[in-house]
Amino acid sequence: MELRSDKIKEKLVQEIQEKIENGTYNGKKRLCVFRFGKDSGAASYEKGLLKTGKNLGIDVRTYYYEEMTPKIFADFKAENESDEVGGILLLEPIFKEVEEDLKDAMDPKKDLDGVTLYNRGALYSGKNPYHIPATPRAALTLCKSYVKDLTGKDVVIINRTTVVGKPLIHLLLKENATVTVCHSKTKDLKAQLKRADIIFTAMGRAHSICSEDVKEDALVIDIGLDMKDGKLVGDVDYKSFKPSQVVTPVPGGGGALTNTLLLESCLK
Ligand SMILES: NC(=O)c1ccc[n+]([C@@H]2O[C@H](COP(=O)([O-])OP(=O)(O)OC[C@H]3O[C@@H](n4cnc5c(N)ncnc54)[C@H](OP(=O)(O)O)[C@@H]3O)[C@@H](O)[C@H]2O)c1
Repeated sequence: MELRSDKIKEKLVQEIQEKIENGTYNGKKRLCVFRFGKDSGAASYEKGLLKTGKNLGIDVRTYYYEEMTPKIFADFKAENESDEVGGILLLEPIFKEVEEDLKDAMDPKKDLDGVTLYNRGALYSGKNPYHIPATPRAALTLCKSYVKDLTGKDVVIINRTTVVGKPLIHLLLKENATVTVCHSKTKDLKAQLKRADIIFTAMGRAHSICSEDVKEDALVIDIGLDMKDGKLVGDVDYKSFKPSQVVTPVPGGGGALTNTLLLESCLK
């Protein structure tokens, strides 16, 4: 069975619009997106944010740099200090020369993707960060739309990066799940997949997980993105899945929710 995000996204958009109208959210706050160098993934993420922002009537301002320039710091400083800005997003990949300095300088309250040490530290120590990374948050939202209570569930994450795996570990521990983290050096990934109740995969390896790899009643949340035969696909060959196995499609899964959750964080 396919677990799509369309309905959840529609409901969220409606809730955000209502909250802007009744003044709970400040719809005048601006989102600033910084993009560095040619990267099709970053360009498409930016495009999605502009589109979702337009639908919600939120001002999304974009900055693009083809190469390193002192202008990056000047633009960033102005937006970071502006009261009109609700949030800042640094799209990966970020120029290595500026990555740490930008993250160190960012106001944690504007750090929509939870990349500052303050927000990471708060999340990793079980406290309340201002913002949680949007991709794992979207994946968990989708997971909980199907399994409300994760207590005691055997959950396998395939990814150990700060973008996906590390925040997910802490979000899932907070839900009382039993969490196993796998990566490229894991000895027997297939054995881990076969015993998991729920799998979050973010390898970026097209169609590398199929129906036979997981339990008969497994829930699989596919965060991975890759290209196959000129099309955007996930880690999971979801069309091979049985009706008893639940899987998020790519496109149409967590990725579609990420933009909306991020824009909501900007208004909060
Ligand atoms: N849907 C969305 O909104 C969204 C947003 C952001 C990213 N993504 C996608 O999510 C994926 C992960 O992003 P990322 O930045 O974390 O990517 P990344 O830096 O490439 O990390 C990939 C992770 O998968 C592990 N891995 C790779 N091949 C493996 C294998 N054969 N067996 C087991 N583990 C394997 C890697 O292990 P090692 O640590 O050992 O290398 C690493 O932890 C990408 O496909 C990206 O495009 C999606």
